Amino acid sequence: MTKMKAIGFTEHLPITDSESLVEFEEIIPTPSGHDLLVKIISTSVNLVDIGVRKGGHGVLKHPKVIGWDAYGLVTEVGGDVSLFHPGDTVFYAGSFSRPGSDSAFQLVDERIVGHAPTKLKPAEIGGMPLTSLTAWEALFERLQINPQNRDANHQKTILIINGSGGVGSIATQLAHWAGLIVIATASRPETIKWTKQNGADKTANHRKNLVNEVRSLGYQYVDYILNLNDLDGHWNEIAELIRPEGKVAAITENHHNIDLQKLTKKSVSFNWEWMYTKSYYHTADMISQHEILEQIAQLLDNGTIHSTVTKVIKPISVDNLRQAHQLVETNHMIGKVAISNI
Ligand SMILES: NC(=O)c1ccc[n+]([C@@H]2O[C@H](COP(=O)([O-])OP(=O)(O)OC[C@H]3O[C@@H](n4cnc5c(N)ncnc54)[C@H](OP(=O)(O)O)[C@@H]3O)[C@@H](O)[C@H]2O)c1
Repeated sequence: MTKMKAIGFTEHLPITDSESLVEFEEIIPTPSGHDLLVKIISTSVNLVDIGVRKGGHGVLKHPKVIGWDAYGLVTEVGGDVSLFHPGDTVFYAGSFSRPGSDSAFQLVDERIVGHAPTKLKPAEIGGMPLTSLTAWEALFERLQINPQNRDANHQKTILIINGSGGVGSIATQLAHWAGLIVIATASRPETIKWTKQNGADKTANHRKNLVNEVRSLGYQYVDYILNLNDLDGHWNEIAELIRPEGKVAAITENHHNIDLQKLTKKSVSFNWEWMYTKSYYHTADMISQHEILEQIAQLLDNGTIHSTVTKVIKPISVDNLRQAHQLVETNHMIGKVAISNI
């Protein structure tokens, strides 16, 4: 059986520890059913990698491979595969319950995979899938904004809390594409500039009182709020700023109880978005992640949106993944970091 190199961890160590990520050998898996075998060309690091790597105790018997972003080449397909062929280049985030993309080859279900954009560099693509799926599902499924309805959306305002991180950078572009008035939060001159480049009409500082910040821009209320950082810290501001009958979505879990009653009188709906829900539970609409990625690829290729990758590290190796983990752990990322073999 042919072996491949993979990178994972057996202990939940700080990233400064040289053993926090280790390289090891693994048998190259064989695809069956709806699975594709993909040769990984580029990947990225998301906060979920940090959470999984750090969160736990004890020593694992077998290294756990993380990494939930991939651009690569399909080398083999399972018997039920109908959407892809060997030789296709693809991009995807993958499943939370399977080995990740920090590996030479990876199995992935075709229903959560898209054909990769053709006009971007591998690294520019490798940093896009997880954040694009999260932003798309949050905006167009959970908040139920219709991106085709640009004229009606022009009258509507969205507040994106954490505009310059990985998810916010693509969410801002997609909300702008859908025609909304976008207020995105950014706290530093460089993140304000980046957020405006992504299509934000206005910025507000999440390090200051957001109610004052948004009201000083001339908005008493906003129609939608997408929370992408510190739900606990921003909850009272969200409850105050959301328009009666508005919609709120969040992608980060609260660490303390949040008071949903604050939304009652306004009849506001609150929605969670977890990018892995569809693949984790094999929901009936799981194939929608394939469709979303196909649309993202088209929007990237025709220049409607641009890659949010701001830093590229080459090649995929233990040291380079550790460097990317360190960057993401700062909680000050602007856009995305990609790790790429070419
Ligand atoms: N549910 C899901 O499916 C899903 C998917 C992806 C990510 N997530 C989660 O969503 C969060 C965001 O992910 P990401 O990859 O976009 O993060 P990220 O790239 O690491 O975000 C970094 C940005 O966060 C901003 N920030 C720091 N503290 C903030 C605060 N209190 N309020 C608002 N913004 C703040 C920073 O801006 P300044 O430096 O200017 O302050 C920085 O630019 C993470 O917690 C991640 O685990 C969930």
